[in-house]
Amino acid sequence: MKYTVMIPAAGSGKRMGAGQNKLFLEIGGQSILYHTIGVFQDDPYCNEIILAVRPDEQPIIQGILEQHGGSKTITFVEGGDERQNSVAACIEAYKGDGIVLVHDAARPFIDLSLIRELVHTAHEKGAAIAAVRAKDTIKIVENSMVKQTLNRERLWMIQTPQAFRYELLKEASEAAIQDNFLGTDESMLVERLGHSVQIVESSYDNVKMTTQEDLALGEILLERRK
Ligand code: CTP
Ligand code: MG
Repeated sequence: MKYTVMIPAAGSGKRMGAGQNKLFLEIGGQSILYHTIGVFQDDPYCNEIILAVRPDEQPIIQGILEQHGGSKTITFVEGGDERQNSVAACIEAYKGDGIVLVHDAARPFIDLSLIRELVHTAHEKGAAIAAVRAKDTIKIVENSMVKQTLNRERLWMIQTPQAFRYELLKEASEAAIQDNFLGTDESMLVERLGHSVQIVESSYDNVKMTTQEDLALGEILLERRK
């Protein structure tokens, strides 16, 4: 089943501390952004790629796209101050319907089987998100004191891609804007409408390149994929 992907790429990568958008840092000699976009360029089921970027970075990103090649329609939109605003700009720019995926540009290690399952589940249920089981015990802490230990059996670490019927995502995004609600993922926006969201079990390889250690891990993951 066909889908469109919305990719927020307009961050600054503060936690990476590279003094530039972390998406331009390289793994295996190619930028993080190159790897992420490549997955969708090479997926015959991907119809269109909508990219939220900082306008001053668009020329560099266009260069990265040309390097990879591919025949997909790429639509650029201007990113916002927060990730959610960048995704909202993508949602607003989209002209079609059907299933859309939201995927962080900073997660280059996704595979097609995960995408297939997310798209299929979102088509059936409306919303489906990638997640892995929490490995560590997670506690709620206040002023360095443990307040509560959560039951690990029920805890999942949420990733992207997150897949939605477009109409549902649009409604959720517009409601969040209306209510000045800022979430940390798109699922939260759909949850607050009272709509159910299905988990699709993903892989621990689907890491978000966030800090320097992640780059070293990225090199290993890329090597393993070859
Ligand atoms: N993003 C975006 N617009 C923003 C902030 C983030 O499009 N205003 C994008 C990033 O480019 C990234 C994804 O959202 O692909 C996930 O965000 P994150 O990993 O937090 O990246 P940054 O915000 O760039 O990093 P940091 O939080 O360390 O500054
Ligand atoms: Mg961020």
